[in-house]
Amino acid sequence: MAGNSTGRIFRVTTWGESHGPAVGAVVDGCPPGIDLDEKDIQDDLNRRRPGAGPASSPRKETDRVEILSGTFEGRTTGTPISLLIRNVGAESSAYDDLRDVFRPGHGDFTYWKKYGIRDHRGGGRASGRETAARVAAGAIAKKVIAREGIAVTAFTMELGGIRARKTSFEHAGRNRLCCPDLQAAARMEKKLEESRKKGDSLGGIVEIRVTGCPPGLGEPVFEKMDADLAAALMGIGTVKGVEIGAGFAAARMAGSECNDPLTPRGFATNNAGGILAGITTGEDIVIRAACKPIPSIGMPQKTVTVFGKPVKLSVRGRHDVSVIPRILPVCEAMVSIVLADHLLRQKANK
Ligand SMILES: Cc1cc2nc3c(=O)[nH]c(=O)nc-3n(C[C@H](O)[C@H](O)[C@H](O)COP(=O)(O)O)c2cc1C
Repeated sequence: MAGNSTGRIFRVTTWGESHGPAVGAVVDGCPPGIDLDEKDIQDDLNRRRPGAGPASSPRKETDRVEILSGTFEGRTTGTPISLLIRNVGAESSAYDDLRDVFRPGHGDFTYWKKYGIRDHRGGGRASGRETAARVAAGAIAKKVIAREGIAVTAFTMELGGIRARKTSFEHAGRNRLCCPDLQAAARMEKKLEESRKKGDSLGGIVEIRVTGCPPGLGEPVFEKMDADLAAALMGIGTVKGVEIGAGFAAARMAGSECNDPLTPRGFATNNAGGILAGITTGEDIVIRAACKPIPSIGMPQKTVTVFGKPVKLSVRGRHDVSVIPRILPVCEAMVSIVLADHLLRQKANK
């Protein structure tokens, strides 16, 4: 299995490289009769597009999605939906220096070791560009889960070591980083600018919240909801850690603090982050994903060529300073794809 597909009933396959003619996705198993046109997908693609935020590279990608199959008169037919996003504005010549050199922190070395051949222009399948296809597929998953009242939203909780202290999710809509703390957002913007000037990059933490999820989604043992969510998010480039609910902090709590008391009106707290024994509780699902800094940086770094010769590399080309905020719609897409799949599995079980 080549690992380019995910999901059992709502099945998504992505394809394409960043400097090929296009990237895209095939979504199979989407129920018929859902209103769907390009506009439903375009908003999320625009949020992911380079140049859309303060941490972005100036690469001008139009990211226009085309729906090639699976709809009739604006509604899904239940047949495979093929989505195409043409690669416009990719400047492959900027990557000439990388033909025989491995970028530290990127997939250049591992792809070379695995396949013995690699597309050095932008990172091929390991490029952040591949996530445009996930976002397009995720927009369809969002429509599937929205029919049951489920919504998925991602926020910036930390960037460059600056943490959001207040969590007014209303505020998140009022700044480009989608950070729920406006003061922290302003400091993050400043830090991004300083990093850009140095030719460096920054990591951060994204929080994803799922509201309206019914209890009972998730399978026992190997396909638990938390296991599938973690796998889906870890499959995004730069994501190095995932925690659910209290997450790593739970390791430092006593059972009496960590357990969420049950009341006739539901759970009194939500340290479980909406999942117990791999099955949703009906509370909000709360997930955090830790993202490392973008590997391609202008600052000179030590590396080697494919022939083992040591060299210093400053990466040219147009790279982001941070995956945040562009990664927010990608996280939403992956979480929505997992939820759509489990929702349809639960319906099939009944
Ligand atoms: C939305 C998005 C945009 C990205 N943009 C870049 C980029 O401009 N330059 C870069 O070197 N890496 C970028 N990346 C990160 C690489 O894809 C990632 O670091 C690489 O595949 C190595 O995987 P790993 O970080 O999981 O080890 C981006 C990732 C995402 C999700």
